[in-house]
Amino acid sequence: MSAPEGQKMWGGRFERAPDASFYEFERSWQFDRRMLPQEMALDRAWARAIALAGILTHEEGQQLVVALDEIEARAERDPAWLDASKAEDVHHFAETALIEKLGSLGAKLHTGRSRNEMVATEFRMYVKESIREMRTAVAALLRAIATQAQRHLTVPMPGTTHMQHAQPLLVSHWLLAHGEAFYRDAERLAAAAVSADACPLGSGALAGCAFPLDRKALARDLGFSRITANSLDAVSDRDFALEALFALATLAMHLSRLAEDLILFASPEFAFLELPDEYSTGSSLMPQKKNPDAWELIRGKSGRIYGALFALFTTLKGLPSSYQRDLQEDKEAFFAAYDQSLAAAKIAAAALAATHFREDRLRAAAQDPALVATEVADYLVAQGIPFREAHEIVGKVLRAADQAGKSIREMPMAALKEFSPVFGPELGTVLTLESALARRSVAGGTAPGAVRAALEDFKARLVKIEEHP
Ligand code: ARG
Repeated sequence: MSAPEGQKMWGGRFERAPDASFYEFERSWQFDRRMLPQEMALDRAWARAIALAGILTHEEGQQLVVALDEIEARAERDPAWLDASKAEDVHHFAETALIEKLGSLGAKLHTGRSRNEMVATEFRMYVKESIREMRTAVAALLRAIATQAQRHLTVPMPGTTHMQHAQPLLVSHWLLAHGEAFYRDAERLAAAAVSADACPLGSGALAGCAFPLDRKALARDLGFSRITANSLDAVSDRDFALEALFALATLAMHLSRLAEDLILFASPEFAFLELPDEYSTGSSLMPQKKNPDAWELIRGKSGRIYGALFALFTTLKGLPSSYQRDLQEDKEAFFAAYDQSLAAAKIAAAALAATHFREDRLRAAAQDPALVATEVADYLVAQGIPFREAHEIVGKVLRAADQAGKSIREMPMAALKEFSPVFGPELGTVLTLESALARRSVAGGTAPGAVRAALEDFKARLVKIEEHP
């Protein structure tokens, strides 16, 4: 069995058509058809550029552009046409459609160019566009975080390290901690878009175009801000895709960490929050269950998103200079990681926005006296005791309180004075939750004033992303 008959983009030197199973194996139309808008834009720009270079007449260039518009319009309203196509790849699809329409004029468009530079160009355009979409989704997540932080600006919660009660925090401070991580993701995505923003067109198959092409004008026409510097590098460089994948993998990692916090906080042991019905599922067996499946799936997706990064890294390793067909493996990895991380970011934004935080539970948990142990040590330091000794004294006090079945707040002053004579009645004021929070008023700290300022700064940065995704 051989591959379907039809105009191929090569084949003159072949006696026999490719084996049908090999054709299925090597073709990429099934997945690179999603770059059809980029292919169409590139083809139009190329038609204009080679008309300007004198390879086509002005009229021929215009006829090609009109035909490409028509092909694009049909592709939009007739998906069955795309489904039925046996094209080798998106470039072959466009050329076949063009030749069907215009005959030999259609066959002129490929003058002076190679699919090697085309695929590199279209993939860069696709990655840039994906990053815009992704930053819009991340902005929605940042907005959900800002809104919840505003709503719970002064609600306290226990802060932990090693999952043990450490010091009190504001819920808004905890939310903004995740917010800062996602903000960095938005920045990292933007940096990957800058890497992708160089146009390879004019690189030819590997050595550069032999016609007098205005590469800079062509790049501008396609929305690129610069051209690539070396034709041989340009047809084989996929660093921009790696950088985008790294940004997506890091975002996925941050999403998994937010998910983990929320899954824990939704458990009955914490009960810090109520999962929204719209983003939860039930159990087919246990009627009482409301499961955090949205967050579990978000946490789980990080696996295959990292996988895409490593898949492309591995494909690129050891490739000789120039285009090699191995490079066709770049797109599926990126598309999969992009689809999954976009869906995860959108669901995370919506689920977080709909989450109800249980203020009563958070406030009650934040009252744990253990959370103010550091305050006692700081109090002793203020009385002139070196911190290391103060730490030791407070440790002993806590052990004695534990044995007496009391909290540190309930220890009588006389008992405290046995551990250090400097303990005095002002201790009562430093042992409050409010004081522990208010004292952390440095920039970036959890004091209400500091968090209010941090939230304002966060929102100002967020608006910039919303305005320029
Ligand atoms: N489908 C190919 C890819 O994605 C396009 C470039 C093909 N070039 C070639 N010389 N076979 O990489």
